[in-house]
Formats: sequence, C-alpha cells, structure tokens
Amino acid sequence: MPAVVVVGTQWGDEGKGKIVDVLTEKADYVVRFQGGNNAGHTLVINQKKYILHLIPSGIFRPQTTCVIGNGVVVDPEVLINEIEKLKKEGLNIDSNKLMISEKAHTIMPYHKALDMARENKAHKNKIGTTCRGIGPCYEDKAARKGFRLIDLTYPDIFKERLKNVLEEKNVILKYLETEPLKFEDIYEKYIEYGKYLKPYLTDVSQVIWQAKKNNKNVLFEGAQGTFLDIDHGTYPYVTSSNTIAGNACCGTGIGPSEIDLVLGIVKAYTTRVGEGPFPTELEDETGNFLRDRGFEYGSTTGRPRRCGWLDLVLVKTAIRLNGINALALTKLDVLSGLDKIKVCIGYEYEGKTIDYLPSTLIEISKLKPIYKELSGWKEDISQIKNFDKLPETTKIYLKTIEDYLKVPLYLISTGPERDNCLIIKNPFQN
Ligand code: GDP
Ligand code: IMO
Ligand code: MG
Repeated sequence: MPAVVVVGTQWGDEGKGKIVDVLTEKADYVVRFQGGNNAGHTLVINQKKYILHLIPSGIFRPQTTCVIGNGVVVDPEVLINEIEKLKKEGLNIDSNKLMISEKAHTIMPYHKALDMARENKAHKNKIGTTCRGIGPCYEDKAARKGFRLIDLTYPDIFKERLKNVLEEKNVILKYLETEPLKFEDIYEKYIEYGKYLKPYLTDVSQVIWQAKKNNKNVLFEGAQGTFLDIDHGTYPYVTSSNTIAGNACCGTGIGPSEIDLVLGIVKAYTTRVGEGPFPTELEDETGNFLRDRGFEYGSTTGRPRRCGWLDLVLVKTAIRLNGINALALTKLDVLSGLDKIKVCIGYEYEGKTIDYLPSTLIEISKLKPIYKELSGWKEDISQIKNFDKLPETTKIYLKTIEDYLKVPLYLISTGPERDNCLIIKNPFQN
C-alpha cells in the first residue's frame, strides 16, 4: 500500500486540494506536513465549494482520517472555526477523524501583528505575505521561543513563558509602530483553545508508522508550491517552510524510505500571488483571459493572481527538487478558446540557453523565456473521461508536456468539480 506525497510544482494554487480530494476516494490517511492557514485548498463537490485552510482535503471522505503534522503551524482560532463550520455541514469531526500533532507550533496574536506590521512598513520591499503570521511563527520555532499545541494544555508553564516572550514582542511591535498586546487577552483565549484541541492532540509519527504497518494508503498533502520553498524557491519571495516533498518526512516524523511516490501538481499555465519573479508572466489580454477563465483570485486573501504561460523549465526544476515520478495536470479546460498556446521550453541567459531556474534574483531577472507555440482548441473538454476523446490539438499539448518533462501524466483535471477528471492511473490502484 503506497504512501504518496502530493506537491505543487509552481508557486502554489495548482489545484492540489482538488486532486487530493479525487485521490482520497482510495486513501485511508491524508496528512498535512507544512505551512499553515496561508494555504487555501478548494474542493467542489456536487456544485458546492469548500475552501480548506488547515484541515486536510480528505475530510469529506467517510473512511479517511485527516492528520495535521508537526511541521504545520496552527492558528488555533482558525482551526477551531474550520472544525465548527464543517460540523455544521453535518460532518463528524471527532478525534478518530482528525488528529493533530502535539508538537505542531501555534500561531500567536503577535505573529499576525508582526507579519502585518512588517508588510506595511516594507512598502515597496514587501513580500506580499498572506499576513497570517506564518513567517513570525516559524521564526520563533527556530529561535526556540515558540509554543507547541501541547504547551497550551499546561497553563502554569504556558503563563510564565508567555509573559517572557510577550515582553520582547511588544518591544518589536512598538518599533514597528503597532499597538502592544495584552497578556491577559492572549492567555485566557489560548488556554481555552488548548482545552478544545486537547482530545485531537497525538503523536503523529506513531500514527503514520502504525498506519503503514497496517497496510493503509497514506497521502501527504503539500501546501504552497516548490518555488515558495524557503530554501529552493525564489528567496526572499517565498514562504517560511520547506514546501518540497522531502519535508513530508520532517513535518510528520517518518523516514524517506517510507515514501513510495511523489505526485507533482502542474497547472496548465502558471500563476503567482504576491511579489517576486515570474519569467513567463503575461501582463496583457492573454493574462486577463487566464485570470477570468480560471477564476484566478486567491482562495485565502482574494487577491488577483498574476498569470502567465506554462513554464516547463520551472516544472522540470521542480521534478528534480522533489523527486517527482508522476504528474497531475490541472485546469486544462481553462485553455479552451485560445488560438495559440505557448509553453516555455528554455531560458536565454547571457547569450546561452539554460534548462533550469537559477538561484538568485539577479540571474532570474535576466532570463528571457524561449517559447514553443502550439495550436489551441475551442471544444469544451470538461466532461471528457477518455484520453482518446480529447481534441487532437489538446493531445499534442499534453504530449509536448510529457515529452519535455519525461514524467508520466497520471491525472488530468478538466474542471473544478470532483468528477471533472480524467484518470490515466490512480497511484492507489495497481
Ligand atoms: P490549491 O491551493 O493548490 O489547492 O489550489 P486552489 O484551491 O487555491 O486554487 C485552484 C482553483 O482552481 C480552485 O478554485 C479550484 O476549484 C479550481 N480548480 C481546480 N482544478 C480545476 C480544473 O481542472 N479546472 C478549473 N476550471 N478549475 C479548477
Ligand atoms: P496554497 O497551499 C499561493 C505566498 C504569499 C506570499 C508568500 C509568503 O493554497 O497553494 P506567507 O503568508 O506564506 O508568509 O506568504 O507565499 N503563498 C501562497 N501563494 N498559494 C499558497 O498556498 C500560498 N501560501 C503562501 O502570497 O507571496
Ligand atoms: Mg490555494
């Protein structure tokens, strides 16, 4: 029974949630391993849209256990609201359905205040974060000043440490011209959060270990995308966690030999929210077409997403960084109606052609995409379930992608709904 890691190969919002939802028909566990509620994963089931920020995208499948690993940073208020909202939908979210690592760090009010204050002060140097406190929370984790969820269940120890940490945070907030925060307001609230979440807290490493021993299918659901990775992304325009597949191990407490397949999610074009380089960006009518047709507005912040052609060099780099051995292509339907479609197959850099994304912003700023132009198609492809029934030009588009990347396409998503999907191979089925 396989363990499959699902990761985004671009700058996030590739449609990971949709693909995870499709695959969880056959998954027993769905595990988030990094990021926090900066993520927004959209599922459309029977015309109803759900956006999940912290809860793994397997929650709507009756047999699936959802797990939040130690690598995730949890805003308890957001998580509790998400649980309550799903309960109102009639879902039973008890401690058998949802398990949360006791080691996961908690996002505190000063993390959000700091994130926002820094973004406001930075003006033209801002990152364009989601202002959810993600960066400051990971900073505190690394600085050993963070609070793990389990800490909220020990009121006395929490009290002493919080006083200490808050003193320092208020000095920084003052420097950033932001109101200081009151100890009492935070303490009381977080103790209540601790009580609410306690039944869900567990040792996730043991849960997954046991699941694998019992031959269960485990799916690790990545958040963000490869080029938002803190080490391998377009630094500093990145998020604050490792988003690549290797972090499925650190973020849950399992070893690399436990992973059987890495499935990369590729949007049929490219998008990015927030600041940072984007070699194939289109600031023209075609970019607007992709934004309108693909409804490219952030699931978390509602910001319009920047849009551009599919960058195969970027995806190829992602294949290397993640060890991707299967691909799912999403939003192919969005391209219907275009006369010509371009894909980037190389970069021109200082007179040479390169086929990887360089490490520095200076180098990236000098890249000129080299495009291959393909014919488009006009047909509505959203209901097609058989590869052979796709228009010829669509097949050529797909073949161009596979030939360049040399990794097989397992799934092709042709619409937001669960059943708008052409499954060539299901990683959980032989
Ligand atoms: P994620 O963060 O990677 O899970 O992606 P998001 O949910 O933020 O953004 C993907 C958006 O595209 C959502 O609105 C999905 O409902 C939608 N979507 C996913 N797959 C498809 C598809 O194949 N076609 C279309 N038209 N929309 C899709
Ligand atoms: P999903 O999981 C797209 C971007 C932000 C910003 C940068 C840093 O839905 O694909 P942060 O708040 O993480 O410190 O912001 O990262 N970003 C995302 N962009 N999809 C996401 O998640 C993202 N999560 C963070 O826009 O540019
Ligand atoms: Mg998203």
